[in-house]
Amino acid sequence: MCGIVGIVSDEVKTADIIDSLKKLEYRGYDSSGIAFVRGGKIEVYKSVGKIEVLKNSIKDLLEKKIEVGIAHTRWATHGQPNDVNAHPHTDCTGKIAVVHNGIIENFRELRSMLEALGHKFKSDTDTEVIAHLIEEEYSGDLFDAVMKAIRKLDGAYAIGVIHSNHPDIIIAARKGSPLVIGLRDDMSILASDVTPIIRYTKDVIFLEDGDVAFLKKGRVEVYRANGEKIDRKVQHIDWDELAAEKGGYDHFMMKEIMEEPMVISSAITGRVKAGKVDIPEVREIDFSKIRRINLVACGTSYHAALFFKYFVEFHTDLDVLVEVSSEFRYRKPHVDKDTLTIAISQSGETADTLESIRLAKRLGSSIITITNVVGSTITRESDVSIMMNSGPEIGVAATKTYVAQLTVLLLLGLEIIQQRGFWAGRHEKIFDTLLRLPEVFSSILDFSDKIKEIAKEFKGYDHFMYIGRGYGYPTALEGALKLKEISYIHAEGYPAGELKHGPIALLDENFPVFAIVPQDSLYQKMRSNVMECKARNAKIIALTTSENSDISSIADIILEVPRVPEELYPLVMSPIIQLFAYHVAVLKGHDPDKPRNLAKSVTVE
Ligand code: M6R
Repeated sequence: MCGIVGIVSDEVKTADIIDSLKKLEYRGYDSSGIAFVRGGKIEVYKSVGKIEVLKNSIKDLLEKKIEVGIAHTRWATHGQPNDVNAHPHTDCTGKIAVVHNGIIENFRELRSMLEALGHKFKSDTDTEVIAHLIEEEYSGDLFDAVMKAIRKLDGAYAIGVIHSNHPDIIIAARKGSPLVIGLRDDMSILASDVTPIIRYTKDVIFLEDGDVAFLKKGRVEVYRANGEKIDRKVQHIDWDELAAEKGGYDHFMMKEIMEEPMVISSAITGRVKAGKVDIPEVREIDFSKIRRINLVACGTSYHAALFFKYFVEFHTDLDVLVEVSSEFRYRKPHVDKDTLTIAISQSGETADTLESIRLAKRLGSSIITITNVVGSTITRESDVSIMMNSGPEIGVAATKTYVAQLTVLLLLGLEIIQQRGFWAGRHEKIFDTLLRLPEVFSSILDFSDKIKEIAKEFKGYDHFMYIGRGYGYPTALEGALKLKEISYIHAEGYPAGELKHGPIALLDENFPVFAIVPQDSLYQKMRSNVMECKARNAKIIALTTSENSDISSIADIILEVPRVPEELYPLVMSPIIQLFAYHVAVLKGHDPDKPRNLAKSVTVE
C-alpha cells in the first residue's frame, strides 16, 4: 500500500524525509519519490525500485536543509511502476507537488476536462489530476485551493500537498485512506501510519474521513470539507516501531485480517457507476459471445475460483471449469477462442498459473487475470488485468487478498450476469449488500476475542474436518488450508455429502468437525451431515447465520455471521475461518506470518 510522509520544520533536512519514508518500506512499494521546497523552488526526485536508489540519486542533497518536504512510496494501481508514474506529481507550473494514497475514481473525466483547459499531463496516474485541479483552483490560498479541488474528487484518497509560494505549510486531506499527524513544538509531521512519526513524537492526531488539515511548524488545524474547524483529539501512543508497523497488532496476519473492510471498499472503488457494476478494465470484452469460462489458480486463489464457478453457473447459462494450475498445465484441455480463461493469483508470479495461461493462450483463449500486483509477470502475459487493490500482503497466509479476490469475482460475475441478460431482483440485492459489506465486516471482526476463547478449547486436537456444501464448500476448503498451513494441525476440507463415502470413518471424539452451515438453500442437507458427524461423537463447531437456534441444539460451539444473500456467505465467513486459524496457531506458539516450508510467492513448479 502506498506510503506518505511530510515534514514541516525549520530544522528539516532531505535525509530526515528519506529516513522517515524508509520506515514505511514494510508496507511494500515499487517506486519512491520526494519533493521539497528549497530557495523558493520545488525540487522533485523519483526512482523506480528501492528507496536506496532514490537516496543514492540525491546523495549530495541529503545534508541540505529544506523548508518543507513530502515523500511517497508507490504501490502501482494506475500506470506501470516507473520513474514518471512515481509520486510526487506536479502541476503545469511546477510550483505544486502532491503525494497520494488511494484511487481517484473519476480521474478519466477530470483529466479530459483539465486537458481541454490546456493542462499538460506527464504520467498515466490518477494522482496527477489532483495537482492540476489544485493549480486550476489556486489564487493565492493553498488551503482554499485544496478544499475546492477535493470537492471534485470521487474515490479514496489521503493526500499531502506543498506549494513553493508557501514554504512553511503542508495541506493534507483524507477520505478512505489513513493519515496521521505527529505534533511537536518545532515541527509537524504527516504520515500514512505512525511508524515514521514515533521517533519524533508520540502525540498524534488520526485524521478522520472528510478531514482537511493545515500543518505548520508546531501548529496543526483540522477542518471538515465544508470549512468548519474541528478539534481532533491528540492521542499519546506507546508503541515501538515494530508494533507500529503491525498497526499495534502482534502479527501482520492479524493486521491484514483487520484491514478487510477497507480491502472490500478498495476492490469496489471505481467499479460502480450509476448503481450498476462497471469494471473499466473489462469494458472491451463482450461476455455475451463467450461459450465457456475456464479458471486456473492455486491454493487460496483456487478456492476463490471455485466460488466463482458456483456463482456464475448458478446465475447464467455458462459452463465454468475450475482447475488447479499444476494439473491444468499438463492436461489436454478443451480450450479455444470461444473460451475465456481467468487466472487468479494474488502475487501474479505463481509459476503453474503462468504456464497455464500460456497454454490457454496458445489454444486461442483470451486471458483475464485477477491479481494484486501491477506489472507482475502474469499481468504482462494477460489480455486484461483486474487489480485487487488490497495493498501488499506481508503475512504468508492469504487473508485480505482472499477477501479481495472474492469481492472482485462477485463484481465480475455480476457484470457477466448483466451482459448475458440474466440480471434480476436477486442480483440487485446481492449487489446492494456487497456495497454495504465493509460495515458488516467490521462487526464480524469484533468477534476476534470470542474466537480466541474457542481456539483455546480446540488447539490441542491433531485433526480437523471442515465440511460445507454449495457456496459453503470453498469456505470449508479454505478453512482447512488456513488451519493446516499456519498451525500445522492436519485439516481436511470436504464437500459434506462426500463424508459417508469414506472420510466419516475418521471421525470420533478426537476428530472435531468445523461445519459451514449457513441458513441457505442447502441448509437441511448440511444439517443432516452435521447430525451424522455428531452421531460419531465428533465435537462440532458450526459456523452459521445469526439466531439459528436449530443448529445450536446440535453443535457444541456456534459462530455466527449476519444474514446476507447466500452468494455472499463465502465472503462474510472468511474472517471467521481466518481468525480461528490465527488464534490456534498463536496459542500453539507458532509465528503465523512465517509458516514453515512456505513462501509468499511460488515462482517454481
Ligand atoms: O500468489 P497466488 O495467489 O498465485 O498464490 C497461490 C497460492 O500459493 C497461495 O494461495 C497459497 O496457497 C497461500 N499459502 C495461501 O494462504
